[in-house]
Amino acid sequence: MKFNKPASDNPIDRQKVVSQPRDRIDGPLKTTGTATYAYEWHQEVENVAYGFVIGAGIAKGTIENIDTAAARQAPGVLTILTAENVGPLGKGEMNTATLLGGPTIEHYHQAIALVVAQTFEQARAAAGLVRVAYRREAGDYSLAAAKPHVTTPPEDTPDSVTGDFATAFAAAEVQLDATYTTPDQSHIAMEPHASMAAWEGEKLTLWTSNQMIAWCRKELAATLQIDKENVRVYSPYIGGGFGSKLFLRADALLAALGARAIQRPVKVMLQRPLVANNTTHRPATIQHIRIGTDRQGRITAIAHESWSGNLPGGTPETAVQQTNYLYAGANRLTGLRLAELDLPEGNAMRAPGEAAGMLALEIAIDEIAEKAGIDPVEFRILNDTQVDPTNRERFFSRRQFVACMRQGAERFGWSRRCATPAQVRDGRWLVGMGVAAGFRNNIVSESAARVHLDANGVVTVETDMTDIGTGSYTIIGQTAAEMMGVPLEQVVVRLGDSDFPVSAGSGGQWGANTSTAGVYAACVKLRDAVTKKLGLDPDTAEFSDGKVIAQGRTVALGDAARDGTLTAEDSIEFGDLDKQFQQSTFAGHFVEVGVDIATGEVRLRRMLAVCAAGRILNPKTARSQVIGAMTMGAGAALMEELAVDTRQGFFVNHDMVGYEVPVHADIPDQEVIFLDDLDPVSSPMKAKGVGELGLCGVGAAIANAIYNATGARVREYPITLDKLLAQLPELA
Ligand code: MOS
Repeated sequence: MKFNKPASDNPIDRQKVVSQPRDRIDGPLKTTGTATYAYEWHQEVENVAYGFVIGAGIAKGTIENIDTAAARQAPGVLTILTAENVGPLGKGEMNTATLLGGPTIEHYHQAIALVVAQTFEQARAAAGLVRVAYRREAGDYSLAAAKPHVTTPPEDTPDSVTGDFATAFAAAEVQLDATYTTPDQSHIAMEPHASMAAWEGEKLTLWTSNQMIAWCRKELAATLQIDKENVRVYSPYIGGGFGSKLFLRADALLAALGARAIQRPVKVMLQRPLVANNTTHRPATIQHIRIGTDRQGRITAIAHESWSGNLPGGTPETAVQQTNYLYAGANRLTGLRLAELDLPEGNAMRAPGEAAGMLALEIAIDEIAEKAGIDPVEFRILNDTQVDPTNRERFFSRRQFVACMRQGAERFGWSRRCATPAQVRDGRWLVGMGVAAGFRNNIVSESAARVHLDANGVVTVETDMTDIGTGSYTIIGQTAAEMMGVPLEQVVVRLGDSDFPVSAGSGGQWGANTSTAGVYAACVKLRDAVTKKLGLDPDTAEFSDGKVIAQGRTVALGDAARDGTLTAEDSIEFGDLDKQFQQSTFAGHFVEVGVDIATGEVRLRRMLAVCAAGRILNPKTARSQVIGAMTMGAGAALMEELAVDTRQGFFVNHDMVGYEVPVHADIPDQEVIFLDDLDPVSSPMKAKGVGELGLCGVGAAIANAIYNATGARVREYPITLDKLLAQLPELA
């Protein structure tokens, strides 16, 4: 189905099942521990051997020698794979560093060997006997040190220029010129990267944990230099991804190589201490923001430049993209600067671009609003725009940013905020409120599905879409139920199998809208097949309560399949509506914090997000996405940081003890409000993404609340005690 013009009324608008707060249909499997994760396919595969990954002990240089002799003699060892003995490998397009390094080492903990043994413990013990001699080379590991030398944008990412920023900024009555930093961050999903591989002749089956089945399949085939038709990928349950599992990673490749070498299934789970340096991470940024306004606080000039680093061939963190769209202003400049660093690869992590960019921009807005003497909620409303400020011919498909701000302010009791910092005390706590915008673009891409109807009226959906903990199973089931007019209980949803039609996958918050739109397209075809089979008028037929009603006749839906299952397959193909209109999602984030007057300890007291993100397909799962994202935002503001050893070139705190994330006790009452926001331009579902929106801006709202509480303006995330203490007011 082509989607070229805005959606008109369709069966989804009934919202009998869609948009209802249904429980997750995979909930019982998850809560009883019976969902089968990548490392757990015990029933399916026997005689499995275990792999243990050895990561490089240097960041840059070469391996002079790997001595595996002692390890090969260790109990239970079946084989040891290195780049030297696995034979030639191809390379996919999506990773910068190779997944099995050697002799050249491109980053710390790059996989250099897999020890395969009868048991995991034997593999681990033997790995300790492998001796590696390296020749270390000097590398560049400091973004701050590299920054002065990086003054121009990457060739394929020119600056975005509108009007004349420099002149307008110089003439502005109110000016802000400030620099903000965000650290490297790790996804550290609950389930580490894990895979099990088995070969039957030329055919490879991979059980893995991956957000994008089709990418994984293609990249694995390319790396093994085999036909992708010979690769079957399963990933029906995923214990978190956050972007770390968008790509083929070492666990999958090494499991496949190990299984091929010993002609026996092999499973590999990346050991937790390897995750931070072996896989990708969100790269650190240094962001320079300048904003000028007139006397009334209207933005006349805005510039945002962001520096990040990556391995040679890697991409920049696109931290300036929201600054092109979020606020009005005639004179604008945004640009990316990319330093070559020898740290592990930087890549997508939940809301790549905006998550880091909004951390900086939304403090800057707080600062300029204060300079202009305007309330930060009012400042944002004053500078709202209904057109794309970089191209004033182009409108937003739907933009309810002002409503997010107004409703949030009212609900949160914003009028009770004291504009002067450090005025409100509650015992030993200094109390403050902060606000930030939420903004994340809405991306659409082709997505396909297959639907079957059987004689009992059961509808089965098959698509290679994944559920990374987001609720895909449930909203896909709800979509098919709505379209076919059956209860949700009568829908079977099967995901995460490369034998199924290729979906858009889980990434960039496009999954919910695009994958359900693909299911919508397939169901439109199935409805046609049903009416044809039943001899009913397709244009007037109504699908409701397990029946099809048309021309005064009422027929049980299952009757259409009485001679055999009916099957339909289609995909949603998006035209250029996303070019004609700017499609984005919006939020208002409101936070109240308490800061200990003596220790600088920050406690979150209340959090509220008001979101305008298209039709909400399931308010229960969507709310879970947003509160999870708000929690992640709390981590970004207060805790999360991969500490870089700038001499040796690695992330030091590569475990869950040293890399701190929020836990239950850190998180207060969180409230989420969704505005009515049908967007017919986004898809026939009129939905948009919400899982990343919930993160974008939260951290800055916390930073702004800390400022309001204490008068301490910290521009380097995370806002830890050491940065606050020096700025705290004298003990009263
Ligand atoms: Mo997302 S960072 O594209 O999984």
